[in-house]
Amino acid sequence: MSSPLIVALDLEPKEAMDLAKKLDPEDCKLKVGSKLFTSSGPSIVNSLNDMGFKIFLDLKFHDIPNTVYGAIQEACKLNVWMTNVHCSGGLEMIKSAKKSMLENSESTKTIVVGVTLLTSIGPTEAKKIGINSVKNQTIELARLAKEGGLDGVVCSPQEVKNIKQNIGREFLTVTPGIRRRSSKGDQKRISTAQEAVKNGSDYLVIGRPITESKNPVKSIKSLLKEVL
Ligand code: C5P
Repeated sequence: MSSPLIVALDLEPKEAMDLAKKLDPEDCKLKVGSKLFTSSGPSIVNSLNDMGFKIFLDLKFHDIPNTVYGAIQEACKLNVWMTNVHCSGGLEMIKSAKKSMLENSESTKTIVVGVTLLTSIGPTEAKKIGINSVKNQTIELARLAKEGGLDGVVCSPQEVKNIKQNIGREFLTVTPGIRRRSSKGDQKRISTAQEAVKNGSDYLVIGRPITESKNPVKSIKSLLKEVL
């Protein structure tokens, strides 16, 4: 079974490369997000691809449909394994992302998923941006992603069960917010790796619990034991 772990490289370029050199593409995929991409751009994606890693380009595009079409086109040219848009950009934007993926993917299709609601947003924060029910909002955005033809969603591990029940088992769920019970940090809607997989999560995005670990390789191996 292939590894469901995606390591978020929210690091300086040198730190990211040093960590990647220690890791095995069989054990994890790598996520290049806005910090690393802003500092290093396409070249870091190419380097990591050349090392044999599957790359999740996590730039959470959220713009008018034409602009998002162009952004997904460029992501496809970089041969990334997965990329994403914000579902709250609306159905037309989602459809445009999907169309771009179909028209611009290389031989292997890039997976496009939609961000529902950031896992750092809890109920109090949600109210401040006009969202009364995190649960309803997440499911509505997941429905929109499905309607627009996306492959799945990024969501909290706590919402996976509900999404799978309502949208379908084959609809991918990618879950950040993975923590040991004791350490939450800025993430609010969290669970352990084991719980996430038990609830049906297809891929687990894990950043600081690995990148800030004294021994990241050991942490990955122990997480793999937990989830495989
Ligand atoms: O360090 P930590 O494990 O919290 O990292 C989680 C990663 O997942 C970060 O790179 C963050 O940008 C990303 N992410 C998230 N919530 C989402 C989507 C992506 O935390 N809804």
